[in-house]
Amino acid sequence: MVKKDSKVELLEEIKTDIVKDKVCPDLAAGATQLVFGTGSADADVMFIGEAPGKSEDEQGLPFVGAAGKFLNELLAGVGLKRGDVYITNIVKYRPPDNRDPYPDEKAAFLPYLRRQIGVIKPKLVATLGRHSMEVLLPPGLTISVCHGQPKRYNGQVYLPLFHPAAALYNGGMRQTLVDDFAKIPRILAQI
Ligand code: URA
Repeated sequence: MVKKDSKVELLEEIKTDIVKDKVCPDLAAGATQLVFGTGSADADVMFIGEAPGKSEDEQGLPFVGAAGKFLNELLAGVGLKRGDVYITNIVKYRPPDNRDPYPDEKAAFLPYLRRQIGVIKPKLVATLGRHSMEVLLPPGLTISVCHGQPKRYNGQVYLPLFHPAAALYNGGMRQTLVDDFAKIPRILAQI
């Protein structure tokens, strides 16, 4: 088993490689900094969002803006703190004007995201929103249908979830996310 310290070092290597490999230079040029990921290198649950927004770009940390505050509440609801889990995005530089990441940008970052998952080896990968679901799970899934249903794919258990930002303006969606998060402890106990 890879020790926690070595996992931290391996994650640092991935971060360095993103810069060295000049992944998405146009995005990098417009961003303040790389937003690599945060939390425990030994986490049982890894959350994967879309791309950094303004606050994330400023602070260099994922999910620290309004959606992040709600994510913190959702985690607290199931007895988890940010430091217990690992949080990252597919795309690691802020897209201009918070536009959706382009397919080629998601594809460019995917190998590095896969390496992050490979180092952390979480029991459960929870995708936040359709972008991370679409890059990690087989095609043809619709988030409105499959949210909250764990799926085993290539030996990894995934839980597709709505993006917390979607719930900020939609009370019904908020409750759906609370209900889907409530399943996490049971899913973990069954893996
Ligand atoms: N939305 C995301 O998908 N990721 C973040 O880090 C913040 C908002």
